[in-house]
Amino acid sequence: MKKQENCKLIRKKEIAEGIFDFTIASDDIARETQCGQFLHINCGESTFLRRPISICDAHNGEVRFIFEVKGEGTKALAKKEIGDYIDVMGPLGHGFEIKPSVTKPIIIGGGIGVFPLYKLAKDLGNNATVFLGFRNQSRVVMENEFEAASALTIVGTDDGSYGYNGYIAAAMEGYLRMNDCDMIYSCGPMPMLKAVKKIAEVRDIPCQLSLEQRMGCGIGACLVCSCETNKEGTDRYAKVCTNGPVFYSEEVTLND
Ligand SMILES: Cc1cc2nc3c(=O)[nH]c(=O)nc-3n(C[C@H](O)[C@H](O)[C@H](O)COP(=O)(O)OP(=O)(O)OC[C@H]3O[C@@H](n4cnc5c(N)ncnc54)[C@H](O)[C@@H]3O)c2cc1C
Ligand code: FES
Repeated sequence: MKKQENCKLIRKKEIAEGIFDFTIASDDIARETQCGQFLHINCGESTFLRRPISICDAHNGEVRFIFEVKGEGTKALAKKEIGDYIDVMGPLGHGFEIKPSVTKPIIIGGGIGVFPLYKLAKDLGNNATVFLGFRNQSRVVMENEFEAASALTIVGTDDGSYGYNGYIAAAMEGYLRMNDCDMIYSCGPMPMLKAVKKIAEVRDIPCQLSLEQRMGCGIGACLVCSCETNKEGTDRYAKVCTNGPVFYSEEVTLND
């Protein structure tokens, strides 16, 4: 049975318009979290279902998550104030696999997909090359933190208003023409994940993708989060909440 806990909100900051950076107190979650796992959060007010939000960082009894206000749930969550208690379940899911044999990792994230990649960058020993893509300059977040947690961080915007001009997967593809890589880790919107999967497969680079699927229960009981997989040649469905959210790219069929 997954643990549910009421955790005190100890830090709150709006880091870009509608994007909130929360830190809650929990010794158990901070101790147990592996990078890429998520919390299933009761956002309060009239929202019935919990909402999945990735764990951005976890240490010393503190758990950080960052979310964009999208609809009813995240809007209610954003109203919580320091000192309030938040009902969370977690850490949930199967996170990123870190192999000691990997020496030239690339991390690539887009939009709200950059948040689970921060703890990954730190856990990789600050030696990854990181690509971060955002819609425009006003959406760019965590650049300095990723710079400190990586060997190199390249930021791009779809409209060219800041950094690399264009889709960030294209920036990564250009980098790969000149540099080696032995693992790609990615999280972001579906078109970006599809592009990353293709680039990895063409170059025969192992690749782990974190999927953001709509969820119900978050613990494997309702099938809302099913995704198509093709593990070892056998088509089947997997549950993103328990088998994922992180999968090797060759295991998953990415549908819109
Ligand atoms: C494993 C996982 C980790 C996530 N981590 C983060 C995170 O770190 N930060 C963050 O901001 N968001 C994250 N999300 C997305 C977040 O769960 C949704 O934005 C949130 O549930 C929306 O709830 P809402 O009530 O505010 O909006 P709703 O009213 O439920 O929906 C508003 C809009 O968001 C879309 N939406 C809802 N759920 C999802 C989803 N799961 N994926 C994509 N689009 C969705 C809806 O289609 C709709 O267009 C994550 C999702 C998953 C599955
Ligand atoms: S959300 Fe219920 S099975 Fe995954």
